[in-house]
Amino acid sequence: MKSVVIQQPEVLVIEDRPVPQPQAGEVRLRVESAGICGSDVHIYRGHNPFAKYPRVIGHEFFGRIDAVGEGVDASRVGQRVVGDPVVSCGHCYPCSVGRPNVCTSLQVIGVHRDGGFSEYITLPAKNAHIVPDSIPDREATMIEPFTIAANICSQMNPGPLDVALVYGAGPMGLTSIQALRGVYGVKEIIVADRIDERLAMAKENGADRVINNTDIDLTAELAKLGIRPTLIIDAACHPSILPEAIGLASPAARIGIMGFSSDPCVINQQGITSKELSIYSSRLNSNRFPMVIDWMKSKKIHPEKLITHQFDYAQVIEAMEIFEKDPKFCCKVLLKF
Ligand code: NAI
Ligand code: MN
Ligand code: ZN
Repeated sequence: MKSVVIQQPEVLVIEDRPVPQPQAGEVRLRVESAGICGSDVHIYRGHNPFAKYPRVIGHEFFGRIDAVGEGVDASRVGQRVVGDPVVSCGHCYPCSVGRPNVCTSLQVIGVHRDGGFSEYITLPAKNAHIVPDSIPDREATMIEPFTIAANICSQMNPGPLDVALVYGAGPMGLTSIQALRGVYGVKEIIVADRIDERLAMAKENGADRVINNTDIDLTAELAKLGIRPTLIIDAACHPSILPEAIGLASPAARIGIMGFSSDPCVINQQGITSKELSIYSSRLNSNRFPMVIDWMKSKKIHPEKLITHQFDYAQVIEAMEIFEKDPKFCCKVLLKF
């Protein structure tokens, strides 16, 4: 089989590898399509501290089960499924309280173990979620990115009284905007980004108002407009954003962050406690696949709006380069396998 392997930082090769055999409790997928994510590029460029090389990348993948390991119901062969990249132990403290995404021995498919940019992949049977026939292949490939939005939103519990501010209109911001609009029905969504083309996408994905904050002070601009956000999602993840968000938030607001920068930022207790703000963080997803499959089935979200490109896997280098260099016109890139 062909697999997209990062042999070491900056070295991407399409390798011939033996088709893996599913172990006990596992299924094997014939992968049909996969999505490129920023973290795939980070592994390619050597910027992911968790990655070990060589590594088959890809954690957003859809396909059909073509074999099962011992103990797995053979009737699963032929199912259309999407893979949850979160592989957890099931018995540590976070696993026991329903948070396998931060399992103490977490293995992320495509990061810690070989991923979905491959003609075949094996994974635990419970990580392979059935996709209803009403959800087309391309949309099914988008389930994982929406689980990130589902995870942060499930924690923050948005509602009709919320004035939401989303920082960043990349794939993560856009999936969050779609969820806030189509699932949670918040009152208003304001989006800040540095790129006008991305802000235009934010509008197409459900934002009411967009602000390019390249040259303006967002705090002053929102004050001028009389807007006090009650729910803030940081999907841009620059360390300067949390302090700013604390300052411009409404009393009793919730702030959700999902960045991985190790750079410090300065915040103070008074800024948080005086308004009794809640600060959430969110990593990957904790069993949110069924939720997102439901959202797609009931057409509450519109994954096609994010897909700007599709390539054959043989063109993966070109696909990664467009994804990296063209944020104005490129959002989600799919690979066909
Ligand atoms: P992206 O790079 O495509 O989008 C980020 C957007 O933020 C860009 O459009 C950029 O112009 C904008 N931006 C940058 N600085 C800004 C600022 N100061 N104010 C307003 N906008 C600003 O990235 P993507 O894929 O949407 O991911 C966003 C972030 O989420 C990344 O940092 C990524 O590491 C993180 N992430 C976290 C996950 C988690 O589970 N916690 C999962 C996936 C991504
Ligand atoms: Mn991803
Ligand atoms: Zn665990």
